[in-house]
Amino acid sequence: MDPYAADRMVTGQATAQSFPTTRLRRLRQHPTLREMVRDVRLSPRQLILPLFVRPGTRVRQPIASMPSQAQLSPDELAVEVREAARLGLGGVILFGIPEHKDSQGSDAYDDDGIVPRAIRAAKSAAGDLLIITDVCFCEYTDHGHCGIVNRDTGRPDVDNDATLELLARQAVSHARAGADMVAPSGMMDGMVAAIRRGLDSEGFSHLPIMSYAAKYASAFYAPFREAAESAPQFGDRRSYQMDPAADAEQAVREVELDLAEGADIIMVKPALAYLDIIRRVRDRFPGVPLAAYNVSGEFSMVKAAAERGWIDERAIVLESLTSIARAGASIILTYWAKDVTRWLRTT
Ligand code: PBG
Repeated sequence: MDPYAADRMVTGQATAQSFPTTRLRRLRQHPTLREMVRDVRLSPRQLILPLFVRPGTRVRQPIASMPSQAQLSPDELAVEVREAARLGLGGVILFGIPEHKDSQGSDAYDDDGIVPRAIRAAKSAAGDLLIITDVCFCEYTDHGHCGIVNRDTGRPDVDNDATLELLARQAVSHARAGADMVAPSGMMDGMVAAIRRGLDSEGFSHLPIMSYAAKYASAFYAPFREAAESAPQFGDRRSYQMDPAADAEQAVREVELDLAEGADIIMVKPALAYLDIIRRVRDRFPGVPLAAYNVSGEFSMVKAAAERGWIDERAIVLESLTSIARAGASIILTYWAKDVTRWLRTT
């Protein structure tokens, strides 16, 4: 008699049996059994599709660095949003490319700016799909940085606190136009608190904030910067986005602060090179909804290899998104959201 057998049953620990009693291949023989014992399942509602909007009508401007993706005018956005809703996606996240950029990024907080106009155009097509907006300045400023830049300090850098008030105004303009959730991505200290205060004071205390809490200074954003026309004109984003080589606990500190400031959903970005961060945040903040952004570089690399016939796009994407979900993300932002939904129907 094994005196510890009962304890093991209580704790659920498997008895350390070995071959030939234990054969893990038994669970892999029947396709239905394989499915039954799966732990990670992808579903359309957890997916968010990023979309780029620009002024005009009937505009579908293909993005060279991101095959199959396009900049859309508000009327075309409505078409895309209707399709996304029909497929049962959870949401879309909008990035605006304004007609004119200036040093203050003034289109970003204009109630008649590109994003508010896009929201109003798409709202009736959205059904129960969430319209989420990216809240940041890099697409709106002529210098391409994520906030107000002080050039006369001898050390040109984004002025954190001057940017906060404008981010709050931007979020409020999106809320007024009908956004269901706002997603600040600029990595300014205190951005969530400033946006929360701004929304609350304008009657939007019910509106959730999905914060890009642990966002790294990553080369994987390169195709996006062409898509959003948001490449920095000087310097880089390393003074505000996280250093990839920083201790992983720094991501935990970022998340802690954003939660304390009122973030409802936390995001880690990029996804695939940061699965360890996703897992750590998942383990350290149980119960906090966690999103991961499968970014443009992750997308375009697969597209390029698939075009050459080197890999199977569908298989690679399903495997990659499964790994992001397995690491602990329950929400995934991905340019493949529509494709995945179709693929899931036929797997
Ligand atoms: C804007 C923003 C970026 C992305 C999302 N929001 C670009 C950046 O930080 O340079 C990148 C998304 C992608 O690469 O798919 N702040």
